[in-house]
Amino acid sequence: MADTGDAIVHQHKIVLDESEMPTRWYNLIPDLPAPPPPPLHPGTLQPVGPDDLAPLFPMDLILQEVTGERFVDIPGEVLDVYRLWRPSPLYRAHRLEKALDTPAHIYFKYEGVSPAGSHKPNTAVPQAYYNAKAGVRRITTETGAGQWGTALAFACALFGLECEVWQVGASYDQKPYRKLMIETFGGTVHRSPSALTEAGRAQLKVDPDHPGSLGIAISEAVEVAAQSPDTNYALGSVLNHVLLHQTVIGEEALLQLAKVGETPDLVVGCTGGGSNFAGLSFPFLREKLAGRMSPTILAVEPASCPSLTRGVYAYDFGDTAGMTPLLKMHTLGHDFVPDPIHAGGLRYHGMSPLMSHVYELGLIDAVAIAQRECFEAAVLFARTEGIVPAPEPTHALAAAVREAKAAKERGEPTVILTALCGHGLLDLTAYEAYLDGRMVDEEVPDARFAESLASIPQV
Ligand SMILES: Cc1ncc(COP(=O)(O)O)c(C=O)c1O
Repeated sequence: MADTGDAIVHQHKIVLDESEMPTRWYNLIPDLPAPPPPPLHPGTLQPVGPDDLAPLFPMDLILQEVTGERFVDIPGEVLDVYRLWRPSPLYRAHRLEKALDTPAHIYFKYEGVSPAGSHKPNTAVPQAYYNAKAGVRRITTETGAGQWGTALAFACALFGLECEVWQVGASYDQKPYRKLMIETFGGTVHRSPSALTEAGRAQLKVDPDHPGSLGIAISEAVEVAAQSPDTNYALGSVLNHVLLHQTVIGEEALLQLAKVGETPDLVVGCTGGGSNFAGLSFPFLREKLAGRMSPTILAVEPASCPSLTRGVYAYDFGDTAGMTPLLKMHTLGHDFVPDPIHAGGLRYHGMSPLMSHVYELGLIDAVAIAQRECFEAAVLFARTEGIVPAPEPTHALAAAVREAKAAKERGEPTVILTALCGHGLLDLTAYEAYLDGRMVDEEVPDARFAESLASIPQV
């Protein structure tokens, strides 16, 4: 910081040149003491092979799903698209620090500069690229927050693919502009549950105004892809290849923090299926495992859908109808329908198997926070840093604020790195609910989890 008379000059943004953008994705698995348990075929209970996944995914992505290589080269065509918004900026939140009167240094890696407004295009682009390369015509998917559907529609437009999106009902109703954005990129959107699929019709029978869930929307998109030879399915989170693609975030952040001579004491992110959190934290976890730094790595989930902190570690389906392979993960049960909280991207009953495994190994911590505390942090953040966060990363911000306050109590400087994985400019109804005092913190009694936990198959 330099004092130049009237103005105090801080460095706010740490930016990288396009030539400094990472050219490889990082795969954490070979650096772990043990690999995660494999997905199982629900019929045979044997590990799934490439042929089981081939009706849904192109072979390049299947190979990335199971790769043992530490690094995977990013294709030139993908790098060229990434350069539309990458490298993304790392910010030091000086004004937030001042408002909290904390000795903590708070950094946030901002993914809201992407075409969709979040981290989701980091994987949508390679997924569309590999599908186009394999001759696929159409991709189906689900979307919770609307961010993933937007990202995939954008990526499909670039690679000449059709894109069909099942948007979780609660999100479809809250966010009409997400639908329009997906359509602007050329995609088609259905409210989920829909009457177009078996899985959707079964849910509509139970409740014609069903708020939907990510698990149900996944079932619908998978059902359609599985029935059409020229159609594949793409998932915006959870799977290894998705987490792999997101590691560009953490690789950039490592370079950016090094430029200002800082190492984090806390790396914190929100977790729905785990992809933005893994994307930021896995490169730091690599450094930690190698003894080069020792940050606490903290996953923050919503109190109404706490798969890590209140779920069980078991083989369960990734979707509600039971069409996916069985994944060993932290789960609330594939039948669990979370309350329609505003962070639609965090309403997933499970957690990525790789993230769950890393949690079981004790390499990361987790905490659940209710939405009003998250929005309180988000509003403070907006009023100091000028960015309105997406509802999902408000969870990470709330945890960062807690830690900054704790640092003040302890009177110790600490370096906090958080993932601001998206902006909330199309999520303003959530802010309206918070500002009007209508937002509530849903309490989920154990009995409700007990019911859905009973749906977990006995393996
Ligand atoms: C902005 C944003 N953040 C976070 C998430 C949660 O997903 P993940 O845990 O895979 O990052 C979503 C998912 O839709 C999202 O749109």
